[in-house]
Amino acid sequence: MSKYITTPIYYVNGEAHIGHAYTTFIADSMARYERLKGNKTFFLTGTDEHGQKIEESAQKRNKPTQEFADEISATFKNLWDQFEISYDKFIRTTDEDHKKGVQKAFEIMYAKGDIYKDFYEGHYCVSCETFFPETQLVDGEFCPDCGRTTNVVKEESYFFRLSNYQDKLLEFYEQNPDFILPRSRMNEVTSFVKGGLRDLSVTRTSFSWGVKMPESIGDDKHVMYVWLDALLNYVTALGYGKDEANMDFWPATAQIVGKDILRFHAIYWPAFLMSLDLPLPKHLGVHGWWTRDGEKMSKSKGNVVSPKEVADAYGVENLRYFMLREVPFGQDGDFSQRAFIDRINSELSNDLGNLLNRIIGMSGKYSEFEIDSVDVEKYHAKELNAVNEVLDSLDGFMQNMQTHRYLEELWKLFSIGNTAITEHEPWVKVKNDQKDEALATVALVANILARAAVMLHPIMPRTTETVADTLCFSIDTQSYQELIVEKKLLKLFNIKKIPPLFPKVEEPLMPEAPKAMPETEPQKQEKPKNEKKSKEKFESRASFDDNLIEIGQFFETSLKVGTVLEAEEVPKSKKLLKLQVSLGENDTRQIVAGIKEFYSAEELVDTQVCVVANLKPAKLMGIMSEGMLLAAKDEDGLCLVRPSKPKKPGTPIG
Ligand code: MSP
Repeated sequence: MSKYITTPIYYVNGEAHIGHAYTTFIADSMARYERLKGNKTFFLTGTDEHGQKIEESAQKRNKPTQEFADEISATFKNLWDQFEISYDKFIRTTDEDHKKGVQKAFEIMYAKGDIYKDFYEGHYCVSCETFFPETQLVDGEFCPDCGRTTNVVKEESYFFRLSNYQDKLLEFYEQNPDFILPRSRMNEVTSFVKGGLRDLSVTRTSFSWGVKMPESIGDDKHVMYVWLDALLNYVTALGYGKDEANMDFWPATAQIVGKDILRFHAIYWPAFLMSLDLPLPKHLGVHGWWTRDGEKMSKSKGNVVSPKEVADAYGVENLRYFMLREVPFGQDGDFSQRAFIDRINSELSNDLGNLLNRIIGMSGKYSEFEIDSVDVEKYHAKELNAVNEVLDSLDGFMQNMQTHRYLEELWKLFSIGNTAITEHEPWVKVKNDQKDEALATVALVANILARAAVMLHPIMPRTTETVADTLCFSIDTQSYQELIVEKKLLKLFNIKKIPPLFPKVEEPLMPEAPKAMPETEPQKQEKPKNEKKSKEKFESRASFDDNLIEIGQFFETSLKVGTVLEAEEVPKSKKLLKLQVSLGENDTRQIVAGIKEFYSAEELVDTQVCVVANLKPAKLMGIMSEGMLLAAKDEDGLCLVRPSKPKKPGTPIG
């Protein structure tokens, strides 16, 4: 059976962060799992390189866009290589073959009548690169996805007849209830589709860094919408539009994506495929977002977790284990070193590492390291049954991408092994002339470790190879077949002595994250000046924009002492207070601050605060805010930064 697993392709406007690593680890583990089972597998990852955001990032660095994309794409590829990610192809949307494939797809859709030219006049969110019907706007103005103000835009565009696919999509979802995993995400998608699908603008004229229109259509002021271009990578990587060399892998078995790009993959992508008469993917695995110590990660807060830094400190396999074990698939997760260290010390070091050491020690003492499974069934049928039950349950978890449950179940094997040792006390049996029984217990545990190593292999490939080597076998499809499917026991062998696999971690090995400013409600900002300028999605993506600054740059920020004159709660908001703050005579500002969980409106009146006074005004929950308060936040909460003695309002800070 052939399997096709994909990650999203990563934007090349910043370095890889832990969220990218997570998507990649899940997909890599699934691909390795399928290969282990003997399935012919194709695993795709790569980079998404077109669009205005990337064009602008390159300009900022004074680099030709292609050169810039080459550099960042290489950082992703190098990182995945360093992490031994087992991809079969690393696609780039700037690859010539990909571009040709996209043009071919466009031509087919156009010829079919699914793409037509028109003008669009509508509400456009530049940040999300998406038009929204008025009915979906929040308060008739704000983007339903990111909360920013939308603009009314009129531009010539080619449209994809998405509206034609509304019923077909709904029918498809109904017939394939496990298309989206976890299933709970399906509702979100169906209700969006039921709300009405508008035709989708699939070309842009406002920038040129994109796949050109096919020559047969001409109209070269248009370039393709970055999402049409990007989504098609999943088939162009298999030779679509060229030699179709690997198209027999299509449809994909599992496409792993983060929840932020669900709609693109669950609605647009299937509609494009239907238009191209291609079958739809079997599953879309939708994971949640990672925060750091409870805070959203962003480069501006300086709290982005770099996967390379973590892997250098703790080892990439420990990181894979932690991320896949820590979070129920689909839910948001938090990266905290404390939680990571706890799992290394208790689950990897104690449960797995110590069990291996115990049997190396016991077999050394009782049988000169020789392990013979001959009596395992006789003395440990009960344990073997329990082990087999666990093994049989694992496949379902992996197919549903529930890696946390997979690992949780797998860990039951170690407790079966540990309990067997405690109950059977081989050290007593050896002394009481029941050596056969004692050796059978040791052999039972060796077999448990061998089976566990095979099943843990997709998640911790190198570590489990070491375990297998210690137990004198190698992990491959054949050993999977024998040990897991046929439930055979290990043949007579001599166990090897190895140093502890998982040394305990006493202290955090990386600096703690800097504490960040308070999070506010989703920002609803002022209209960008240049309406036509469009950005790619997602503000929190890492970028290179936060470097050390010159002192002059610091003084570009105007900090002033302010006195709070009035304060009140913002209705319907959990976090926001609306303040009137005096910055001196004739300068009273309205400031909306996300501090309600820590201060009441009453206690703030007549107190002093430090204000960033030259921020561009922004709307929060539709209320204009004309400054920002300085505050410090840690796990005990948030406190405002205030002058230590009263100062005249408006006094500069610096
Ligand atoms: N280029 C698009 C995808 C196109 S696929 C045809 C894109 N790229 S991205 O680089 O912004 O994000 C890639 C993946 O990383 C997404 O699945 C996204 O959900 C994931 N993550 C980005 N930040 C994340 C976290 N903080 N936590 C978990 N995953 C997150 O979107």
